[in-house]
Amino acid sequence: MVFELVSAPLQRESHENQRSLLQGIAKLMESDMRFEVRRAVVGDEPVLRALRLQALTDSPKAFSSTYEREFARTTEDWRRWLAPGVTFLLEAGGEPRGLVAGSRDPHDFSVVHLMAMWVHPDLRGRGAAHALVLSVRTWAAEVGAKQVRLNVVESNGRARRCYERAGFRATGHQGVVEKTGDVEIEMICDASNCDK
Ligand SMILES: CC(C)(COP(=O)(O)OP(=O)(O)OC[C@H]1O[C@@H](n2cnc3c(N)ncnc32)[C@H](O)[C@@H]1OP(=O)(O)O)[C@@H](O)C(=O)NCCC(=O)NCCS
Repeated sequence: MVFELVSAPLQRESHENQRSLLQGIAKLMESDMRFEVRRAVVGDEPVLRALRLQALTDSPKAFSSTYEREFARTTEDWRRWLAPGVTFLLEAGGEPRGLVAGSRDPHDFSVVHLMAMWVHPDLRGRGAAHALVLSVRTWAAEVGAKQVRLNVVESNGRARRCYERAGFRATGHQGVVEKTGDVEIEMICDASNCDK
């Protein structure tokens, strides 16, 4: 009986504490999961460089470039990623967490190439990658391109599924990534007709 009298309020308090602790964690997770995508502008060159180096460190086999090549790029080089093409940055909690770039094919202006797609591991599986792909697709439609095209390593199933979800389909064309010997496949999507 004494135990009940003493323990009941204690239990209630600990349940309340637990509840507010769980609410706090849920809020934190929710704020962690919030992300936004914005177009990179002049001044973002160091952010772009840092993200690209993270991407090459995290997933060296996903890209045809190398860490050394990206490391050696100058501010002027990075500026060329901002225009006439486009780079979108993924941000969460005020921190840069991913990127994607787009550029018009110099020989065929109806085509935009999607490149350098990377999402920080903490933000994967939350729709952030989809938002990045759609940003390039939207930009491609805005500049009057008809098609978005990309190359992805054949064995990169996660990236392929992500692109397929956004409406990309394999064209049947394939090549070999020089630095790794991996097979890469081409995927395309109608610029104005990818899934939202
Ligand atoms: C490729 C990459 C950008 C894809 O990002 P991602 O977050 O992993 O991809 P998605 O947003 O499509 O999410 C992946 C999973 O989360 C799930 N998911 C997506 N959005 C979701 C959401 N809003 N809520 C819950 N789950 C979600 C998907 O169903 C998917 O599951 P599946 O793979 O079992 O089908 C990322 O994995 C990455 O940066 N990889 C390393 C670099 C790389 O390979 N780049 C591509 C070069 S071509």
